[in-house]
Formats: sequence, C-alpha cells, structure tokens
Amino acid sequence: MIERVEQLRQEARGAVQEATGAEQLQALRVRYLGRKAELPRILRGVRELPPEQRGPVGKAANEARQGIEALIQARSAQIDAQRLERSLREDRLDVTLPGSPPQPVGRLHVLTATWRELEDIFVGLGFTVLEGPEVETVHYNFDALNHSPTHPARALTDTFYVSDHAVLRTHTSPMQIRAMEAHPPPLYVVIPGRVYRPDSDATHTPQFHQVEGLAVDEDITLSDLKGTLLAFARAVFGEEREVRLRPHFFPFTEPSVEVDVSCFHCSGSGFLKDGARCHLCKGEGWLEVLGAGEVDPNVYAHVPTTEANAPGYDSERVQGFAWGMGIERIAMLKHGIPDLRLYYENDLRFLEQFG
Ligand code: DAH
Repeated sequence: MIERVEQLRQEARGAVQEATGAEQLQALRVRYLGRKAELPRILRGVRELPPEQRGPVGKAANEARQGIEALIQARSAQIDAQRLERSLREDRLDVTLPGSPPQPVGRLHVLTATWRELEDIFVGLGFTVLEGPEVETVHYNFDALNHSPTHPARALTDTFYVSDHAVLRTHTSPMQIRAMEAHPPPLYVVIPGRVYRPDSDATHTPQFHQVEGLAVDEDITLSDLKGTLLAFARAVFGEEREVRLRPHFFPFTEPSVEVDVSCFHCSGSGFLKDGARCHLCKGEGWLEVLGAGEVDPNVYAHVPTTEANAPGYDSERVQGFAWGMGIERIAMLKHGIPDLRLYYENDLRFLEQFG
C-alpha cells in the first residue's frame, strides 16, 4: 500500500511538471486529489486496514496528498511567473522614452502677424475692424476722396484698371467712404487690407498691405490724431517713442501730415553709442511711418445720408481724422528687414525668423 502511495506521488509529480497551463493543473488536481481519485480513496480506507498498518499508511498517504497539492501550487505559481515574464518581455513599452518628435507646425507670416498686432492695438483703443473690396470703383477710390480729375494717381501707369470705372484699389482709403455710408457717426474704424499699384523694386511690390484708420465724432482735433498715433507708435516700437507731424498733402485730408516716429535704433539721436551714424534713420533720428490728416470737409459731402447712416455726416457738425499706414513698412522698420521682396519670396530661412 505504501509503495502504491509513493508510486502515485511520483506519477503526479511528473504530470504536474509537464503541465503548461491552469486547466491542465486543475485536471491533475481532480485526477490525483479529487473525490473519486485513488489517493483520497486510500485515505478514506485507512480505518479498515489492520491496526499496525493504519499509522504508516495514513501518514504516507497524507504526506503524499499534501506533497501533490504543494507541487500543483508551486507549478501554478511558476506558470504564472513565466507568463508574466513573457508578456513583460514581449509587450515591452518603455514609458521613459521620449515621445515621437512633434510634427513641425506652421507659423504666421510676418505680415499676417504684424496685421494682427496692429488690429489688436487699435481695437484696444476702441476702434472696430472693417474690411472692404479689393476691386473698387473709380468713384470710391478717387472721386469721393476728393481727387481732382487730373490727379496723377489716376493715370493708367499708376493704377491697375479693371475697366473704365473699376480699379484694383490703390489704397484702403475708399473704405472711409463705404464705412461712413454704412454707419452713423460717431465712427471709429480701422480697415486692414491688400492694395495694388504697378510698381516693383526693392521698396515697392505691385501688391502690398495697408491699415486705414478713420475716427469721426464731434470736437475731434489734430491732437486726437496725434495722441492716437503716439499710442500706436509706443505699442509697436517701444514706450519711449515720440511722434512728429510734418505738413504734407493728401486730397482727402486738410490739413494733411506725414507722421514720423522717433528712431528706436538710436533712441532718436541719429547716432549710435560708438558715434556711427544710425543706419536705420540715416542719422535723422526720425522714421517716416504713415500719412494722415483731418478729414477734408469735401469728403463728407460725398457721403449721402440714408437710413443706414442717419443723421449723416454734416461737416458743420462732425470732424474727424484719418490715417493710412503700410503694413510692410511697419514690419520692415520693426524687424530691420532690408528688402520688401523678401516678404513674397517664401524663403523659409527668412520666414522662420518671425511669428
Ligand atoms: N491713402 C494714402 C496712400 O495710400 C495714405 C493716407 C494718407 C491715408 C492720409 C489716409 C490719410 O487716411 O489721411 O498714400
């Protein structure tokens, strides 16, 4: 009997060692330790044995049962450990590795960035942003802006004509008229957009960008214009800047001025620390940035009063100021860009320096 117990134990050990999964182990447990298995039957039959055999057989059978149970558990743990090790090896994911490099994202073109910067500044001063058509009528582009019939800008060589009555707008100023036609005073608007002129060299491209400004209200003076443009100059070029107005002529403003900003490169002195002449302002101390003026009363006369803008623009009652600035020029000055054509050549070595 004891030999049989030992035999069962050996047999079970071999089978358990060969098992490779939990189901197999469970089947072996049933086969060797289950209710109908031989070993438990031997155990149950111990009390029917002759007294001198009961002790040794009972002891051997009990040890064998515990031994087999321990073998099954050990094998089970071994199988689990092997499986864990394999999945750690095969499903290896190293969370400490750096992620995939981010895809290079685009950036704003320096002109778009400047366009938005200027919009932000004037919105902050209470202006509303409007945009308008790039193909414009001669009426809005010239006539309503008080250009005489012989004004040189009307020449076929200075303007892209689409027809006798339509042009590619040469400036954003026609939107002054459209804005006043559409809205009653008081009016505070800025109009960024593309404009076109048949010029092409280092300082002129046939297509470029302007930001027009128009403020019409009661009791508006040239000081309001100067204060507004001073705030703009300081926001773009630095808090220490000053502005200077020089007399000029535009058909649609009276008086008209050209506006200079004190040079931010030499702090307005015209000379650098080492005594060299400032190359940015050419020793002037001032940089010309835009044209402006008080809206000429004749311009209001070109704005019909309708339901849309009632009570309309009566030059006896309202005054205003206007300006037009080139976005390319502002960005050139601000970033020291030497040639206007760089904006449009799409050379990434240039473009990646901004935005
Ligand atoms: N339209 C002018 C140009 O393109 C710029 C300009 C000057 C606009 C004076 C204005 C202004 O509104 O008041 O040269």
